[in-house]
Parts: sequence; structure tokens; C-alpha cells
Amino acid sequence: MDIWRIRGGARLEGECSVQGSKNASLPILAACLLCPGTVELRRVPRLRDVDAALQILEHLGCRVRREGDQVYIDASGVNGCEIPPALMERMRSSVIFMGALLARCGRARLSLPGGCRLGKRPIDLHLLALRRLGAEIEEEDGEIRCRPSKLRGASIRLPFPSVGATENALLAACGAEGETLIRGAAREPEIVALQDFLRALGARVEGAGTATLRVSGFSPRASARFRIPADRIAASTLLCACAGCGGKLCLKDCDPGHFSTVLHFLNQAGCVIIQKHDRVTLSSAGRLRAVGPVVTAPYPGFPTDAQPLLMAALLRAEGESVFRETIFENRYRQVPALRRLGGSVLLCGREARVRGVERLRGAALDATDLRGGAAMILAGLAAEGETLLRDEGHLARGYENFDACLRDLGADLSLKHEGDCHGIFVQSTQNHG
Ligand code: UD1
Repeated sequence: MDIWRIRGGARLEGECSVQGSKNASLPILAACLLCPGTVELRRVPRLRDVDAALQILEHLGCRVRREGDQVYIDASGVNGCEIPPALMERMRSSVIFMGALLARCGRARLSLPGGCRLGKRPIDLHLLALRRLGAEIEEEDGEIRCRPSKLRGASIRLPFPSVGATENALLAACGAEGETLIRGAAREPEIVALQDFLRALGARVEGAGTATLRVSGFSPRASARFRIPADRIAASTLLCACAGCGGKLCLKDCDPGHFSTVLHFLNQAGCVIIQKHDRVTLSSAGRLRAVGPVVTAPYPGFPTDAQPLLMAALLRAEGESVFRETIFENRYRQVPALRRLGGSVLLCGREARVRGVERLRGAALDATDLRGGAAMILAGLAAEGETLLRDEGHLARGYENFDACLRDLGADLSLKHEGDCHGIFVQSTQNHG
């Protein structure tokens, strides 16, 4: 159990680099299975989800070595195509190994993936795409068996631009004979990163960033090097933290174009934002103006992952901000905790109305999911007094050195890994009511 102790009220000031992208790293790690030799990846964030992906690769027979932010994966010895439930359950992105295994071995056996509980997270679109490519897939009691099958290029139309289904389709298409067209594809920057990496491996892929992808062949190269792009949600998290607390933050080594919708609303809320190439500087007076409606949508729309973060930043804004969540049905899991801190959030179906309050007060909270937990930290930083956040490890799944990074910016907080934290938690709950 991780315990965050936050004493809110400090302004955030300073400069920091953005970590490598979690959501780009995970499909790229799965794609390493397509390389007959060694891949060198740079700027790989130290995250629990990344560790889970590396363990899956080792389980399948890869040799994995990490040196600082570099990871070397030698996939020459791949000797398995089954992933046990204990590894599958550790994250949602484990499902992307299905397309990669089909491309490498022509078969796969795995179970349903884990990940944040944000509502129904079916994989029907993943299976639809893989079946169009000729995969013979059976599902029974949570087990997915892809029988040995020869993949053939095909025309696939996704009825919704699912990021995961697009990634699975793209990976499997690299192992198919003939050309594949994927229409209705997701346009997220993580798809562009995966395309760039597949090209480095020898794939002929084009169209990433648009709704149509074309895969026309794959001539594997013996080795490849690649640098993971910056994490647009980690960048958005830090910007929302500074917006809500007040201060001045400069983020380096990122691509502000990837989170322009988040910048748009922060600007509308009263923050001053200056973008220059791979940097962005945000200045905030602390008390913001309400914005909205903020409607989550597939890229280039407002990211569902940033919804809890912007909500936390706007808790003390003047006026009423409106959010509409269109991607996941259970994506307001942060709301009860934000209310405990004094936030006024009214939920009505897919809509959330945030009426700005004068002040927030520290409280004892439990992290519910990765971005919801981050939102609680942001709200705690903007609250008066002490917030204790108990987290079963959600935050470590997606944020690298989050506590140190916030401390460097002036936040007053500590993070402890506890075996048994019952004592302090009961005490703090009593103190804060
Ligand atoms: C989603 C986000 C992505 C984010 C990631 C991590 C969108 C569109 N996608 O990707 O930007 O980085 O979470 O938090 O915002 N769906 C189906 N059947 C499927 C697959 C998905 O019905 O086979 C539905 C889901 O239930 C959900 C929506 O499609 O309502 C989005 O799913 P998808 O893009 O696949 O989710 P992730 O890949 O997890």
C-alpha cells in the first residue's frame, strides 16, 4: 500500500522534463515480438505497467535488460505463445500481445486483460479486426484461444476508433500476407508512435494520424532503435496541478500539439500559456474561471484520461464547469473523493457539473484508479491542511517519480510504501471527519 501525505497550499514553480509515454510504450513493447533480433528502446518510463509488459516478454522467451531509461529486448528466442492469467490481469494493454503473437507465431492463448475499472471494456472490436485477418479465435470462460492460422491482408472497418483494437489490427496485419486497410482507425499520437516503431522494424505502414491505415508488407530488420515520445497525459497532469495551485511551470521535451485540447481549456480558465517547439510554459494565478462544456472524445478530441485532472484543477474556479464523458461509462470515480475535500460536483448520467468553491479542505481518501488517483493528489495540493491518500498501486502504474517531481516544483508531500497503514488512516479519518 502506498500512502501519500500532502500538505496543500503551495504554489508550484519550476521546470521539468516529461516522462516517456506509458500508452505508447506498452504497444511498442508488444511489437518487439515482431523483431527477429534486438530492439533498443530509449526513454522507457519506470512504471508498473511497463514492468508487467517486460515480464510478459520474458515469459514468452525474450531476453530483457534495462539500463537507466533504456530497455533492450532480444526477441530472437521467442518460444511461447501463451500468457497466463496472472500476467494478463496486471493491465489492460496486455491484450495488445494478441495481435503481436499472431504476427510472430500465428497463434496465441491468453485470458481477458485487467486494467482500471472504468465500466464495460469489451474487446469485441479487437476480435472483429483479428478475425477479418483470418485469425480463428475461440472465447471460453475468459480464455481466448487463437488457433494456428495463416493471416491474410484484409479490409477492416472499425465501427468505433478504439485505440486498442487499432493497435491489435496494425500488429497482426504486419504478420499477414498481402495488403491490409484499416478504416475507422484511432488517430491518437500513440498510433503514430506505433507506426513509426513498426517502420523502424521494417514494416511498410502508412496513414497513422488519419482514420485510414495501410499495411503493405513487412521485411523484418535484424535490429532497431527507437525513442518513446513524451507522455501527453503525464504532461497534462502537471499542467493541471499548476493551474489549480497557482504558479509557473515549464515542461520540456514534450509535444504540446498532443495535448492542445487540454491547453485550450486551461487557457480558457485563465492560465497564460506559451508554447515553443517542444516546450510549454503555464502561469496560473490559482483561482481559475469555469469552462465547458468539456466533452471527452477520441483524438483529436479532449482525452478521457485528462477529464479527472481538469476537473480537479477547476474545483475552486469561479462559476460552473460542465463535463460530458462519452468514452467510458464509469469515468467519474474520483468524484466522491473530490466531494470529501469540499468540492461541489453534481453527477447526472454522463454529465458532471462542478460549481467552484472558495476553498478545499484536506481529507483522507482512497485512490480508485490511475487518473482518478492523480486527480485526488491535484485536489489535495490545492486544499488547505493535510490530505492522506491511500493507494493500492494505481499511481505507480502510470506516473514515474511523481512525488519527487511535484516536490521539485515546491509541493509539500511525501510518499511511503507501507505494509500496514491501518493505524494512520483511522487516525486521519477521525481528524478530518
Ligand atoms: C482508451 C482511450 C485512449 C487512452 C486509453 C488509456 C479513447 C477513444 N481511447 O483507450 O485514448 O489512452 O483508454 O486510458 O479515448 N470498446 C468496445 N469494444 C472494443 C474496444 C473498445 O466497445 O473492442 C469501447 C470501450 O468500451 C470504450 C471505447 O470503446 O467505451 C474506447 O475504447 P478504446 O479506445 O479501445 O480504449 P483503450 O484502448 O483502452
